[in-house]
Amino acid sequence: MEKKEISKAVITRLPRYYRYLGELLESGVERISSNELSKRMKVTASQIRQDLNNFGGFGQQGYGYNVKYLHTEIGKILGIDRQHHLIIIGAGNLGQALANYTNFEKRGFIIKGMFDINPRLIGLVVRGIEIRGVDDLEQFIKDNDVQMAALTIPKTKAPEIADRLVNAGVKAIWNFAHVDLNVPDDVVVENVHLSESLMRLSYRVCSMQEQKEKEKEKERERAAKAKAKAAKKS
Ligand code: NAI
Repeated sequence: MEKKEISKAVITRLPRYYRYLGELLESGVERISSNELSKRMKVTASQIRQDLNNFGGFGQQGYGYNVKYLHTEIGKILGIDRQHHLIIIGAGNLGQALANYTNFEKRGFIIKGMFDINPRLIGLVVRGIEIRGVDDLEQFIKDNDVQMAALTIPKTKAPEIADRLVNAGVKAIWNFAHVDLNVPDDVVVENVHLSESLMRLSYRVCSMQEQKEKEKEKERERAAKAKAKAAKKS
C-alpha cells in the first residue's frame, strides 16, 4: 500500500476508527458505507472519506469499506500489528491501574515490568508483573528489549528517570507526570493529562449550560412581549 504523509489530525482520529471497526468485526459486519460509519461515529461521511482516502484504495463505490481490511490496515499504520514491550515506572495508584488493565496486551502492548523506589512495593506482584527496584532498570531494558515506558511517578522525579530510560535505549515515553520532558529527536513522548481532558469537559458542560440559559432568557423575553401585546389589545 502506498503511504502518503498523513496529518497529525488524521493520526489522532485513527484509534477511534480502529475501535469502531473492531466492534463491527466482532459483531460480524463485513462491509460498511461511509454514511453508515458516519452515523455510528457521529462524524460526517465526507470527513470519513477524506480521512480514509489518505491511505488509498480502501473504499469502493457502491460497496463501501471492507471492515476487516480497513481494520488491519489502520492497525498497521498505528503499529499495533506488532508487539511493543513496555515498562511502568512508578507502581503507585496510577501505575498499578495501568498494569491491571488487560486490554493493552490485546493491542500488542506487553507490560514486561514495573519499577518503584518504595521498598514496601518492591517484590509485590500485580497481575503477574513483579515490581522491581530501579537499580536494575537499565539491565532490564536491555534484557527485555523494552522500547516503551509509562512514567507514573511524581513530576520532580520524571526528568531524571526519563534520561535514564533514553540512555538505556527506550524510544517512546508515555508520560503521565505533569512535566514536559526534554528528549532527543529519535525519542517520542506522548503526554497524557487526564485533568486537561476534565477541564475540556468542564468547559463544554459550562458552555452548554450558558447556551441553555440564553435560550431560556430569550423565551422569557418572547413570552413577556406576547403578554404585553395581548394586554394592549384587550
Ligand atoms: P502515587 O504516589 O500513588 O504513585 C507514585 C509512585 O511513584 C510511588 O509508588 C512512588 O514510590 C513512585 N516513585 C517516586 N519516585 C520514583 C522514582 N524515581 N522511580 C520509580 N518510582 C518512583 O501517585 P499516583 O496517583 O499513582 O500518580 C503518579 C503520578 O502521575 C503523579 O505525578 C501524578 O501527578 C500523576 N498523575 C497524572 C495523571 C494524568 O492524567 N497525567 C492522572 C493521575 C496522576
